[in-house]
Amino acid sequence: MKKILFAALASALVAVSFPLAAEDDPRVEVDMPAMMRAHMLANMRDHLTAIAEIQASLAAGEYDAAADIAEKRIGMSSLASHGASHMAGFMPKGMQETGTAMHQAASRFAVTAQETAVTRDLPRALGALSRVSEQCVACHAAYRLK
Ligand code: HEC
Repeated sequence: MKKILFAALASALVAVSFPLAAEDDPRVEVDMPAMMRAHMLANMRDHLTAIAEIQASLAAGEYDAAADIAEKRIGMSSLASHGASHMAGFMPKGMQETGTAMHQAASRFAVTAQETAVTRDLPRALGALSRVSEQCVACHAAYRLK
């Protein structure tokens, strides 16, 4: 019994410390020049910061601020500052489409958040924000960088 427990524990530990061997990873590997890779990951970290700031703004009832952050940092207005057109060329079509869907969802959230300043309908704003997060999740599930 002890042996079985130990074996189970050992395999659980191995599973935790080595989540996926590269050959078992179902995500499509995307190759980019090093500078572009660094640039994309920096954008990603800013996306996460922006989501955190949006959530904090919503919690504070600052709907216009939430809208502003979403549009400028993730929405369609962020495309130029992210060098999106330059990076898109290195992405598979499905990845480009998920990126576009994220930018569009963020711009739609921005409009919804502005409306929330009047309607105070927070659940609706949160629903629009989750449309953005869904695109983060979808892309991360399907692609990784080399
Ligand atoms: C079009 C695809 C795509 C979308 C959309 C996307 N990401 Fe990413 N993200 C990636 C890829 C690819 C990586 C690298 C993952 C890897 O290589 O394992 C990444 C990495 C990251 C990282 C790690 C950064 C680092 O320094 O290692 C963070 C944080 C992140 N994304 C946050 C987000 C957030 C938040 C969103 C949504 C607002 C988002 N991403 C949307 C593709 C995407």
